[in-house]
Amino acid sequence: MTERREEIQRLIKETRSLPTLPGIVSKMSALVENDKTSIQEIARLVSSDQILSAKVLKLVNSPFYGFPGRVSTVSNALILLGVNVVKGLALSASIFEMMEKNVVGLWEHSLGTAAAASVIAKRIGAPEAEEISTAALLHDIGKVIVKIKFEEEFKHFESRVREEALSMYEAERESLGADHAEIGGWLAKSWFLPDKLIEPIACHHDVEKSTQYPLKTAIVHLADVLVKAGGFGFSGDDLVPQIQPAAWKKLGLSEAQLEGIIDEIEEKLIDVKNLSLEIQAPHDAPA
Ligand SMILES: [Fe+2]
Ligand SMILES: [Fe+2]
Repeated sequence: MTERREEIQRLIKETRSLPTLPGIVSKMSALVENDKTSIQEIARLVSSDQILSAKVLKLVNSPFYGFPGRVSTVSNALILLGVNVVKGLALSASIFEMMEKNVVGLWEHSLGTAAAASVIAKRIGAPEAEEISTAALLHDIGKVIVKIKFEEEFKHFESRVREEALSMYEAERESLGADHAEIGGWLAKSWFLPDKLIEPIACHHDVEKSTQYPLKTAIVHLADVLVKAGGFGFSGDDLVPQIQPAAWKKLGLSEAQLEGIIDEIEEKLIDVKNLSLEIQAPHDAPA
């Protein structure tokens, strides 16, 4: 098993970015890695790809960030949201672009989880709600790696999930020695995303393992469970996991608060469905 884990880590390191990812993402990784890079340089890079910047702007103006006015340029988005959030958005837009056609369910699950995380973060007054939404948007990104790099195993997981009522991450742990959460964390690290995004991704199925950002992790976990429970999108299996005790403890929600959150998420998911259809539109013009 250790060998498998090392193999996956090596694969991630070697490719640094997915082979099908546009070069812009690896260029952005290099820019963000360099401390001297200015916001203008990053904005210029994202803006050089019309489709990507249109997608980033749609996400920035989506229900989960909720800025009062319309954000119409990438540099404004960078100023409002910060480099890490915009980088996270550009990564999700690029990665899901290649998945949209065949994995619409996972894309919608991810968008839905981002919207739900935003509702929870705002309701409980958690700081850095934008970062939390972005981590939620990327939380299942490890599934993309598993699907692409371990195609054969992935098919096997799918049938086990169907036949044995196993969850996807249990099947992954058994045969790969790591699940998509941990793999997603490795991937986010290789893209130089900060720990506050990495940890919620890596620990969304093991909240108690989160040591530095347990509140952010608990929010992403709860958002994931609620979106699955609501039957929105499709993340690979139909099992709704229990909300973990560590998450309950960290969030300290009353029943009434939870009910309020669920109602608001249900409303938001209608907007998210429209957003998903809009983002998938084949000929996106810049917003
Ligand atoms: Fe997951
Ligand atoms: Fe998920």
